[in-house]
Amino acid sequence: MRKGNLKKAEKNDMNIVIDAFHTLGNEIKSLKEQLVIKERLAALGEVSAGIAHEFRNPMAVIAGHVRLLLKNLDQGDSRREIVHGILSEIEEMNRIMEEFLKFSRAEPIDKVDIDITKTIKAVISEMGDEGERIEFPFNDAIMAKGDEILLRQVIKNLIRNALDAGDRVWIDIENGLSLNKEGVFISVRDNGKGIPEEDLKKVFMPFYTTKERGMGIGLALVQKIIIGHGGNVGVESKNGKGSIFKLFLPVV
Ligand SMILES: Nc1ncnc2c1ncn2[C@@H]1O[C@H](COP(=O)(O)OP(=O)(O)OP(=O)(O)O)[C@@H](O)[C@H]1O
Ligand SMILES: [Mg+2]
Repeated sequence: MRKGNLKKAEKNDMNIVIDAFHTLGNEIKSLKEQLVIKERLAALGEVSAGIAHEFRNPMAVIAGHVRLLLKNLDQGDSRREIVHGILSEIEEMNRIMEEFLKFSRAEPIDKVDIDITKTIKAVISEMGDEGERIEFPFNDAIMAKGDEILLRQVIKNLIRNALDAGDRVWIDIENGLSLNKEGVFISVRDNGKGIPEEDLKKVFMPFYTTKERGMGIGLALVQKIIIGHGGNVGVESKNGKGSIFKLFLPVV
């Protein structure tokens, strides 16, 4: 039957059904994407945890030997400086291993009622002077369900990246619907150099970085945490104008 032959009420009913199918289709697509990401992260997590584990013991043994060496060198010995250098590199490697493990651990998500406004304000105030480059003109409570510690990590990573890219950051929050689910939208925008279109897909990949001292874990962690909360995260960027990272966090 052609839609043109239908009465107005029937047309309305049909549109409702079509809309419902549309939403369902989008929901299935989004769940499928989330599943692929979760599986990929789980596989990578296992490999990272394995590598980190294998490295831990030999590193501890090396550190032990080096400390012994240091003990046997006289205070005035010029070689002490070299040995101190080796020790601080070992510490740096341990720090990287800890980051790997943090990323690979399947941390349980402890969802409670939280006020997103407060969470964001707490992260900004932790940033000290740098916080002055961030605009967040909100005071009213916006409630969501989430793990306070993990969500702080999310906000912190997005702000850190935005401050690395530009000199000003704008944070916005509002209640809304995504695929018929109620929740909170959070966006973090900067006036940085932007991300070239061909790199947009890569930024959430674990260990993708363009920074000299970056590890490429920040955004992978953000994605892992947000998907773990049943939400989603995306990015839009204009070369030379800045980027905006948008999160959706369902309330239930
Ligand atoms: N706001 C931004 N503007 C421009 N590029 C960005 C922005 N956020 C992320 N990127 C790009 O995405 C890459 C990956 O970001 P991600 O936070 O995962 O790792 P990182 O910042 O390089 O290192 P770290 O593990 O310390 O966070 C960055 O190296 C950068 O190239
Ligand atoms: Mg980062």
